[in-house]
Amino acid sequence: MRKEYPGGAVAVDDVDLKVEAGTITVLVGPSGCGKTTLLRMVNRMIDPSAGTVLVDGRDVREADPALLRRGIGYVIQQAGLFPHRTVVDNIATVPRLYRASRRDTRRRAQELLDLVGLPATLADRYPAQLSGGQQQRVGVARALAADPPVLLMDEPFSAVDPVVREGLQDELLRLQGELGKTVLFVTHDIDEAVKLGEKVAVLRTGGHVAQYAAPDELLARPADDFVTSFIGRDRGYRRLSFVDSDGIEPGEVDTIALGERSTATGWVLVLDGDRRPRGWLPPGAAPDGPVTEDGLVAGGSLYTRGTALRGALDAALSAPSGLGVVVDEHGGYVGVVGARHVLDVIEGGRGERP
Ligand SMILES: Nc1ncnc2c1ncn2[C@@H]1O[C@H](COP(=O)(O)OP(=O)(O)OP(=O)(O)O)[C@@H](O)[C@H]1O
Ligand SMILES: [Mg+2]
Repeated sequence: MRKEYPGGAVAVDDVDLKVEAGTITVLVGPSGCGKTTLLRMVNRMIDPSAGTVLVDGRDVREADPALLRRGIGYVIQQAGLFPHRTVVDNIATVPRLYRASRRDTRRRAQELLDLVGLPATLADRYPAQLSGGQQQRVGVARALAADPPVLLMDEPFSAVDPVVREGLQDELLRLQGELGKTVLFVTHDIDEAVKLGEKVAVLRTGGHVAQYAAPDELLARPADDFVTSFIGRDRGYRRLSFVDSDGIEPGEVDTIALGERSTATGWVLVLDGDRRPRGWLPPGAAPDGPVTEDGLVAGGSLYTRGTALRGALDAALSAPSGLGVVVDEHGGYVGVVGARHVLDVIEGGRGERP
């Protein structure tokens, strides 16, 4: 496929991409590389100069544009909400287009607010009365209003701060787990791309696809220097996000509950009544009386059993004792793991525990 704008700018050149239905596919690349152009050719906001776009096997040029767009939700940066309409009316714009009754529309809007994690109390506010992250959620709700099988998202989260952004990404992954849409997601942030995408297309200026692969593959085997430099530093470490933790066997360390007395001489992990880690007692630091929160050294990150190896290594490296704390899904203590053990697992050896 190719798109040349009047005046001769070639935005997309020789692109041939197949997107798996029911998954998130990410287009990532530097500014001006043709991401938005590519996305807009899918819902016919832009027509290609050459080539065809097939959705579900059908050439989009043969579809009725209104019907086509009904099946394709569209989310953009800063949500693109109508400033003079309330949240509910913004979301309702889409079902109203299809002549749903007022009551049904409002009910549907409320359902969608709930789906994207917003309280119903926001329904009658105006966009300016919402935070950036909330606006973005409303934008997603609006795009989902007609329950389209396909969702186009053009840098939807790039205008919010990093913490909110992570929340929105997690929310999208959760939603996708529930809804199973075919999502085409544009970003210039490679970390966002590898977090969200089942497959990622890295685009190069001039509108070429430099590499189209699963995130793990992209990090392990970048196709060329451009992809390597675009992915950036810490490639090997970041790839651990995709390595599963089979082979990690948590070891043991002395533990004690708050309120108990310690007689141990080495590092002691202090747990609360629900066996959740509260912190560490360094060697020789046990108080004469019962252990309280006061004398504790804060722990490192916790590693949830069964999640990717990156978390295990981070837990080990960030723990004051050098022992990463492994917890179960409810945050309860399971065991500890040392960095050496994680490295042994990475290298395929069994290694000593922990
Ligand atoms: N309407 C237009 N007329 C002429 N050239 C255009 C037009 N729209 C985009 N372009 C050019 O086409 C190229 C690709 O633009 P596009 O908006 O697709 O890039 P992008 O990857 O989405 O960039 P960004 O990350 O900045 O949003 C750019 O060089 C741009 O200047
Ligand atoms: Mg763009």
